[in-house]
This record gives sequence, C-alpha cells and structure tokens, in this order.
Amino acid sequence: MRVSVILIALLSCLLSSVYAESKSRYGKQNVPADLQQSTLVCSVDQCVYLMTEDAKLKEKLEAMDSRLNQVTYRLKTAETQLGVLKQENKGRTNVVFSASLRSFGNVGPFKTETTLKYSNVFTNVGKGYDSNTGTFTVPVSGVYLFMFYNHALGAKATYLTLTRNGQRVVTTGHHRNTFESSHNGANAITLQLRKGDKMCIRLWAENWVFDDDKNYTTFTGILLFTV
Ligand SMILES: *[C@@H]1O[C@H](CO)[C@@H](O)[C@H](O)[C@H]1NC(C)=O
Repeated sequence: MRVSVILIALLSCLLSSVYAESKSRYGKQNVPADLQQSTLVCSVDQCVYLMTEDAKLKEKLEAMDSRLNQVTYRLKTAETQLGVLKQENKGRTNVVFSASLRSFGNVGPFKTETTLKYSNVFTNVGKGYDSNTGTFTVPVSGVYLFMFYNHALGAKATYLTLTRNGQRVVTTGHHRNTFESSHNGANAITLQLRKGDKMCIRLWAENWVFDDDKNYTTFTGILLFTV
C-alpha cells in the first residue's frame, strides 16, 4: 500500500518536472496536449523526500535480494545433502540372524572339532545364515557383531570357538567339572568382514554342549554398518 502511494507520488513528481521542462522548452502553447492536461504536481520538498524514500527502498530491496540468494544457496545445499542421505538409506542393507541349537540334549562329544548346526532359526534377515550347515556367509562387506551363548552339563569340557573361514577368532570355554552339574559360557566380538566370509561356531574335540526347547545355546550375528 505504502509503496504504491509512493510510486504514484513519484510519478506525479516526474510528470510535473517534465511539464515544467517542456514549458520552458516549448513555451506554454507548444506543450503537448497530454502533458498540459496533467494536474499531478508536487513541491520540491516532497520530491526530495520521495527520492530519499526511494533510495532507502532500493537499498532494502537489494539487502533482501542478497539474503534471498543466501537462503536459496543454503536450501540447495541442504537438498543435496538430503539426497545423499536418502541414497545411503536406500542402499542400506540389514543383516541379522539369530538361532538356537535346539538339540534336545547333549551335542558331542565328537572325535574331531565339529561345526554346530543351530537349527531353530529366530531371525535370518539377509538370508546369510544356513541352518543346514550352521554357517553364516557374509552377504555384504561390513562390520558385524557376533554373540554366542551356551549351556552345558559339567561332566565334560565345553569349548566353543567362533571361526572365520576356518580360522579361530574368539572362544568361550569351561573345563570338565564334576562338582558343577552345569555351566554357561558366552563370548562376543565385532569384526570387519568381507562378503563371502564364512562364520561358524565350532565345538572342540571331546567336548559337549547342551540345549533343549529353552534355547540356552544361541548364535547371533548383526551387521552394524557396511564398509
Ligand atoms: C525356544 O524357541 C522356540 C521356537 O522359537 C519357542 O517356541 C520357545 O518358546 C522358546 N523357548 C524358550 C524357553 O524360550
């Protein structure tokens, strides 16, 4: 509103100055008819005031323009970052498995080290775990968390080892102990693995481990993040 009033006033001021100039140039008779009919006039004071106002407005407009440019730039940057995040999330792979031995009694002792087949699968997101072989094949390179818990009767030793491609990584163990009817063991580790790595829990030779429908003895793996 205020701007339009100022614009009208400015216009009238301009017209009156053109009128004055043309009067002196042409003499009153030669002033073009449309200008002669113009009745909008303003004083010099008003003119100066309006011109000052106009300059201020221009300044403000320029400042706003530059701020708008800044905001636009920041918005564009934020949009780009959002796009990157979306892309990362889209490509995000979830890998999780958890299974219990569900053996309904002792497993072992065996003459040689044996891979445990955790047959009762709770979760297998990413399909990395194979309950027929007890092997988790890493479906995507990354950092993984593994946990394995076990229960066993005391009359024999119970040593379980997490292996990577057949190599021992971490072990949980309990000696034969005739004073204890049973015992529990566990271990956990984070590992940076490559796609295709094979992870198993191996029961040492002449050892045993126990499970039934209570799911004491479990093997869990979680992809924390891809690398
Ligand atoms: C063991 O797992 C089975 C199958 O997932 C479930 O039905 C059962 O309730 C679990 N037992 C215990 C004691 O947690």
